[in-house]
Amino acid sequence: EAHSINLLPLLKKQWGTDRLQYLQQIGNIAQQLGTPVYLVGGAVRDLFLERYAPDLDVAVEGDVRSLVEACKAQIPGTDYQYHARFGTATLQDSRGFSLDLAQCRVEHYPAPAALPEVRPGNIGEDLIRRDFTINAMALSLDPENFASLLDPYGGRIDLQRGQLRTLHSRSFLDDPTRILRGLRFATRFQMNLAPESRQQLQEALRDDIFARLSAARLWREICYLLELVALPQALSLLSEWHLWFLLRPAPMDILAMQALLGRGQEQIQWLQQQFPEVSIAVSTLMLILLWQDLSWTDIQRPLDQWPIPDRNRLEADLRILPDLPRRIAQAIRPSQRANIWQACSLAGILAAMAMYPDDRALKDSARLYLQEQKSLQPIFNGQELQALGLSAGPSLGNILKRLRDAQLDRDIADKETAQQWLIKQGILPTNPR
Ligand code: CTP
Repeated sequence: EAHSINLLPLLKKQWGTDRLQYLQQIGNIAQQLGTPVYLVGGAVRDLFLERYAPDLDVAVEGDVRSLVEACKAQIPGTDYQYHARFGTATLQDSRGFSLDLAQCRVEHYPAPAALPEVRPGNIGEDLIRRDFTINAMALSLDPENFASLLDPYGGRIDLQRGQLRTLHSRSFLDDPTRILRGLRFATRFQMNLAPESRQQLQEALRDDIFARLSAARLWREICYLLELVALPQALSLLSEWHLWFLLRPAPMDILAMQALLGRGQEQIQWLQQQFPEVSIAVSTLMLILLWQDLSWTDIQRPLDQWPIPDRNRLEADLRILPDLPRRIAQAIRPSQRANIWQACSLAGILAAMAMYPDDRALKDSARLYLQEQKSLQPIFNGQELQALGLSAGPSLGNILKRLRDAQLDRDIADKETAQQWLIKQGILPTNPR
């Protein structure tokens, strides 16, 4: 049954002709070489889900390099990059289509959570080494039966039934990142773990499988999770799958945390509207929110274990945040408030707005800081101050800082008032010149 289904109509409907023609060209060239090729993985799954697949993966039952060389020779405007270490390649054509190719392979895991040893295999072997049945479907690119579906493990039915099913009982032990991948798929596509896969998850957790995973690999998966738009929903699943400990070393009130993370996402949206060109470390912001109420002893371990970028900044933010509303409330002058915000990272500022949604004064001053104060143009720069007769050195930095504060407090507005102010402060002599 599985072999009789042809997805050409679906491909045409969803992709239009250009992308399709490109795949057909590759299929024709592969046929000349006698090398079977298949579209595999997420792209096939997304076809059934009627979602546009951004990345195309092609599995090659044979030599990848000869195939991409032939493609470059025969398709005008096509070029490739060959990655000798992995035997994989990327093809790009002049219209901007790109495609990842890998030789079909068999995987053997020498130990739980270790990286697999691989050797060349056929398409059936390449499909069964994968994470879930929904990702283990292939479309033939052979011109004789172009777009016919290969679905040996029932991925299509599982997709229809919303069942996330592993391909064998050791799957999660072999590669625990699949558990978090599964969580992402379950969240994005609103699927459930199949009963036997749920059993396997429990066994893997009993084996403390995540302890065997390298920190770098775990961290990468955690980041994907933190960056999900549906992170609040993923949190419910994380709790249901008994995985909350991965994100947070202490239990949490899931509902309250979902609301908090949701508010963090709203702040990101606000920021993106205001400053489309500014990029923000979403994962850092979400970590701050997930950890803001924990003690240092609790978060020391994940902080030490994970390769968190800018870990010192994250720590600084976590130290500042609890006391922030009191300090902002007590700050009298605009410069005092600006200096409080200046000690926070951008993620920290957004976190504060999410954490204290009812603190109007805090939010106003945070937004004022981001919108105006942060990028305030100084009235005098260091060179100009030296031209006025001040000497270079640390004291000049201090004067620049005081000028900035005075400007924030609107004690000065332009070069003239700034100069008078410098005189009044005794920084410049009464009569310059
Ligand atoms: N894969 C796997 N085990 C992993 C990682 C990947 O079996 N630990 C397989 C899956 O079959 C997956 C394919 O490799 O379909 C490609 O992986 P990736 O590009 O990460 O995911 P996609 O399925 O393409 O999903 P996404 O929509 O997230 O890109």
